[in-house]
Amino acid sequence: MEQYVIKGGNPLVGEVEISGAKNAALAILAASIMTDETVTIENLPNVRDINALLEAMEEIGARIDRLDAHTVKINGAFVKDVPVDYESMKKIRASYYLLGSLLGKYKRAEVILPGGCNIGSRPMDLHIKGFRALGANVEIRNGAVAAEAKHLKGNHIYLDKVSVGATINIMMAASMAEGKTTIENAAKEPHVVDMANFLNSMGANIRGAGTDVIRIVGVEKLHRTEYSIIPDQIEAGTFMFAAAATKGDVTVKNVIPKHLEATTAKLLEIGCEVEELDDAVRVVASKPLKNTQVTTLPYPGFPTDMQPQMAVLLGIATGTSTVTESIFENRFKYVDELTRMGAAIKVESNIAIITGVKHYMGARVCAPDLRAGAALVIAGMAGDGITVVDDIHYIQRGYEDFEGKLRGLGAQIERVNSEKELQKFRFKVS
Ligand code: UD1
Repeated sequence: MEQYVIKGGNPLVGEVEISGAKNAALAILAASIMTDETVTIENLPNVRDINALLEAMEEIGARIDRLDAHTVKINGAFVKDVPVDYESMKKIRASYYLLGSLLGKYKRAEVILPGGCNIGSRPMDLHIKGFRALGANVEIRNGAVAAEAKHLKGNHIYLDKVSVGATINIMMAASMAEGKTTIENAAKEPHVVDMANFLNSMGANIRGAGTDVIRIVGVEKLHRTEYSIIPDQIEAGTFMFAAAATKGDVTVKNVIPKHLEATTAKLLEIGCEVEELDDAVRVVASKPLKNTQVTTLPYPGFPTDMQPQMAVLLGIATGTSTVTESIFENRFKYVDELTRMGAAIKVESNIAIITGVKHYMGARVCAPDLRAGAALVIAGMAGDGITVVDDIHYIQRGYEDFEGKLRGLGAQIERVNSEKELQKFRFKVS
């Protein structure tokens, strides 16, 4: 099993280029088969989740033509509607987006219930409520969600909770329903907006994405398009926090600074300097980090996908901080691992109470999920000595060439696959 081995203590310095947004790309790929014409998608991140979804789409009949690592042509003319019950589907939670796209296009879909990161119970009741409101009959059978409708008809849908997945899934199905749909209390995340822009570029009629009321007028057909995915705000935020934790000076390039406002605000609060450029942000951490309070919230609030990275930063800030997780119920699994690196963190219900320590100490730790895995790598780079991170397949789900990009900033990190390679690294850095 592959691991990351890290020798901590080097400040990260230099420039790093951010890839396309994984979560936008997953939704956009699923929507690309809603037309029988060929769609070209650029700025695709080359990460495992994307490759798994492309594989799943190929299994149901999509023609996938990888032009290069970041560009793909997709033709959905020969896609089969049901059943979608393949191994590759189970690997990624975002395969649930095929429900919205297939239901919209064929008025019929069956998709195995999603896998993905284990960060707490991840229900689909809001997706199902939305499909039902559009006139679909939805059942759970044999571990799959099956949805079917004679006609999909636009409706007024209020989401009881802000959900990115439900907003996007309903947007897809409603784009090919008869008449008007209104989604109230919609998610406002940048990838919801990117998805609406993508669907509109295929001929859909969606207004209001980025606000909490989205209005959709259904169309009969969607058509070809060429589309470039927005930069990944979470990858960008992760590098910004890595710069701060290592007392570095990093320019994070190819970003939309507006999408990073919550992350930037917290960095300023804890004593870092952040300079916003047109499509880059520079983070300089020359002073000791200060404590603060953070609560995760739907966009534009502080993202839950940055919560573990934030906790790692606060773990080496002065004083006591709190991190409140309000989106997912089981997102503190990394705390035990971080404690083994010297952190002083107590979790009470959904609040982590963090007493800053001087520095982390190298240890052998396990990545419990995607973002927490990245956070442990940051702790390793900020800490003393050697850290080994196991289960890095989680990290590879969502970070393109993570170790390569970090090495470009001066980190001593390597991906190893055996005890021998691990020893070689130890020898090299000692
Ligand atoms: C997406 C992101 C994930 C991010 C999350 C929150 C993708 C592929 N994943 O996940 O990285 O952490 O948004 O920003 O884009 N909920 C319900 N019923 C539902 C759906 C959701 O109760 O039917 C709840 C969830 O349990 C959670 C909250 O709503 O408490 C938000 O979840 P949601 O926004 O749907 O997250 P995902 O779309 O799964």
